Amino acid sequence: MQDLTRRDLFKTSLAAPAVAAVVRAGEAAATEEAQTAPPATAASGAGRERLLLDFGWRFHFGHAADAALDFNFRGNFSKTGNFGPVSTLAFDDSDWKPVDLPHDWAIELPFQNDPALSSKGFYPLGRAYPATSIGWYRRIFELPAADAGKRIALEFDGAYREATVIFNGFYIGRHIGGYDPFSFDVTDFASPGAANVLLVRVDATQSDGWFYEGAGIYRHVWLVKANPVHVKKWGTFARAQVRPGEATVRIRTEVENHGKGAQGTRVTSTILDPAGRAVGKAATPPASIVEGGEHVYEQEVVVKEPALWSLEQRNLYQLVTEVEAGGAVTDRYQTPFGIRTCAFDAQKGFFLNGQSVKLKGTCNHQDHAGIGVALPLAVEYFRIRKLQEMGCNSLRTSHNPPTPELLDAADELGMLVFDETRMMSSNPEGLNQYGNLVRRDRNHPSVFMWSMGNEEGMAATGRGFLILTAMKAVSTEYDGTRPVSIAPLGGNNMGKFGFAACDVQGYNYADPAADAFHKASPKDPVMGTEQVSAVATRGIYVMDPEHGYVGSYDPYTTTGRASCEGWWSFCNARPWLAGGFIWTGFDYRGEPSPYQWPNIGSQYGIVDTCGFPKDSFFYFQAWWRSKPVLHLFPHWNWPGLEGREIAVWVYSNLDRVELFLNGQSLGAKDMKKDSHLAWNVKYAPGAIEARGYKDGKQVMTARRETAGPAAKLVLTVDRKEISADGEDVAMFAVEVEDAQGRYAPVADNQVSFRVSGQAKAIGVGNGDPTSHESDQGSSRKAFNGLCMALVQSTKAAGTITVEAGSPSLTPASVTISSRAVKLRPQVPVWEREVPAGPGITGLWRTAPASGAAGRGGGGFAGPASPVFTFRQNGSALTGTVEGGGGFGGGSDTPAAIEDGKVEGANISFNAVNFVYTGTLKGDAIELQRTGGPGMGGRGNPPEPAGPRPVIGPPPDGTDPSRGAGGRGPQTPAPLVLQRAKR
Ligand code: GAL
Repeated sequence: MQDLTRRDLFKTSLAAPAVAAVVRAGEAAATEEAQTAPPATAASGAGRERLLLDFGWRFHFGHAADAALDFNFRGNFSKTGNFGPVSTLAFDDSDWKPVDLPHDWAIELPFQNDPALSSKGFYPLGRAYPATSIGWYRRIFELPAADAGKRIALEFDGAYREATVIFNGFYIGRHIGGYDPFSFDVTDFASPGAANVLLVRVDATQSDGWFYEGAGIYRHVWLVKANPVHVKKWGTFARAQVRPGEATVRIRTEVENHGKGAQGTRVTSTILDPAGRAVGKAATPPASIVEGGEHVYEQEVVVKEPALWSLEQRNLYQLVTEVEAGGAVTDRYQTPFGIRTCAFDAQKGFFLNGQSVKLKGTCNHQDHAGIGVALPLAVEYFRIRKLQEMGCNSLRTSHNPPTPELLDAADELGMLVFDETRMMSSNPEGLNQYGNLVRRDRNHPSVFMWSMGNEEGMAATGRGFLILTAMKAVSTEYDGTRPVSIAPLGGNNMGKFGFAACDVQGYNYADPAADAFHKASPKDPVMGTEQVSAVATRGIYVMDPEHGYVGSYDPYTTTGRASCEGWWSFCNARPWLAGGFIWTGFDYRGEPSPYQWPNIGSQYGIVDTCGFPKDSFFYFQAWWRSKPVLHLFPHWNWPGLEGREIAVWVYSNLDRVELFLNGQSLGAKDMKKDSHLAWNVKYAPGAIEARGYKDGKQVMTARRETAGPAAKLVLTVDRKEISADGEDVAMFAVEVEDAQGRYAPVADNQVSFRVSGQAKAIGVGNGDPTSHESDQGSSRKAFNGLCMALVQSTKAAGTITVEAGSPSLTPASVTISSRAVKLRPQVPVWEREVPAGPGITGLWRTAPASGAAGRGGGGFAGPASPVFTFRQNGSALTGTVEGGGGFGGGSDTPAAIEDGKVEGANISFNAVNFVYTGTLKGDAIELQRTGGPGMGGRGNPPEPAGPRPVIGPPPDGTDPSRGAGGRGPQTPAPLVLQRAKR
């Protein structure tokens, strides 16, 4: 393996502007500086390991209404360590689907035309769909024997929506809430030196939001190991006070002692500059931390001439924390952070490092074509770059905490983040969710402000003031450097009720109310929290309720709220307004608007679910970026409308634009700031062309030509080289063209994707908000000439070829390379060893009907179906039997076979307290199992010696309830074994 990290590779990666190539007019290639990488996994050491636990899971649907179909999930809490067969190592999960995380099972489901599912994107989730609302995940992994003595934790970045975590048969805990990260210390339940079984039941019956939220473990899972004296989870915080020529970095470090007795512990903090050079260091005096206690250390380090983090220069420092106890370094922990200042001014808006920055923001849900809410890191990067292409400099994580890697991407690419919690409440759950958000995200320089919620009616009440005051106290305690706000319902109560607790007054949509508030309260800073309700279907120019499409001319807001141009011209004319966040950057599933079924998704986005820009993208590009833009629409394929008037619009930031139809000038017009130009043109096939002038000189042209019938596919990709890490993703975009190479703007050909080499297709999409094709297929119709496949690398380096084909069209194919990289530290995939050899050597399991527990069998706490590993050498039989436990629970560690013999077809052996005898019959082994420990552990009773009375105990005093005819384990149990693969 080459010593090349993912970061190195992203840096050297040559990005081809695939989508730009598809859309052509005016769209930018990804800028060179946008090709930066996600941060390498924070260096860890001194006993700390943080291992990705994403690969090699098994998935099976459970059932929300029928325990028998839900792995007998009912009485599983009666005895510690005995959750049931499904939690054991021996459990046969060979019919569970192999999956890697992140995973969203909802997008695999067929759409249902049920109005109750509208917010969910018509995927069958919820009470009425019990068979598809519960998912079980199993992951087995080895822990090395050397982990004994370490603290072992399982960290989940998020699961939708209620997760029950079981580890080695022990119920560990539950987490409710679809976006909040959660973790469990499982040290007491771990088996170092053995295989460990992690089982997670995810219940997606209930909802957090009113939009598509997916289902399952849709974010990463981590296995974290550390010495007993270590930095607490999210226990470092570096915040800087910047002065001319220097910054004082104040460092807070929380250390826990899980070791024996009190520990004299000290912390050394070293600051590395963006080039990795140590530029400051401080050590605390030792503090004694009692057993089971924790201590908070405060330090200050002065950094001279700091390289500030900004949207242009994403300078990231690293805080290296070393914890010393008993004379040794017991933990080394690395925290990326940035040095920058953020401030709001009630008259002048928002300032980053003293420079005025208008917040050109979008709101976004975590949802993408092809993959639902399970976004690999590369897709987060793709999305942020796409928003940057239109000039967006900030985003609001509506309406929930984002994935941690979205913030990594924002830090690396230069995007400000308005970071939102899900639950506005001062109940323990609400405060915990908000506290987790703040603790997890407070070192990210991109995060400039906390959002305590969205459109909560209760915020506009006296009780809302109490709740928001309590929430604010949490962010002040854990952070204290960032302002807080909340996105209100409208803007009528700005500054009042709960909003009085906010540092910055937000408003959703209500521009006139914001104006009035500013007039009345000129000392309060104001930022738009949600604006613009411009719906549009990409590539559509007429209102088409029958098909569920909305034309792309900006005034179609359908909600009476502001259009793109309406909002931006309002915002840009008011220096006191810090900016705002458009609803939305990307289209998303669910909340179809303005139509319902057959629409399954929203159309608010400035780009569609794939990232293909709609026309309004170029409006913002023109006025949010400085590079010249000239964008012309609609397309010019209107058969049957010859001689009829068509509105032709231009988005541009040039001085003057002249429009031509088939070479004839239709006149030139001056461009007004923050506006657009329009001509009514009598349609004639051919071409419309816009010529753009700057300072009197023609500098750009844009053309729309009438295309002939679809003839060929053109395939482009966003990156020519990706990482061979099983995680990276390349986006392959298809454009349908006519025989002359003109974009076919209404083509809807069915396109099949064939992926060969070191990759797999993980999803397809086309941005059509009414499409009922599965995103998980390998084929997709083009929608208005475009569709896309998301292709993920394997862990093997090599080439990846994607071929796109469609009946009667010329196919296209593109090859990229997948380059060897150093993998992120991760937990190896576990496979049960299947021994090969003569005779009955191999893996054997009980046949389904042979009495041992199967999927739901064994009752709430019955034993798992055993698994037999046989090794035959002549007549000698060795191996193991796994699967035991009983009512009281217990380990299902493999037990060695003793006295094993194979003589002809006859087989006999002992394991634990059982005696097995039987015969090999064809492909099966028929066994009798006798013996076993009774409840009292007294072993087998002797047979009564003398005659038994009809009533009363035997004369020798033996227990009449045991032995022949009694209730006990002596009754021979028949087992039929079959060969197994897992
Ligand atoms: C807003 C809300 C968003 C979305 C939008 C649709 O009021 O905050 O989540 O529902 O309306 O127009």
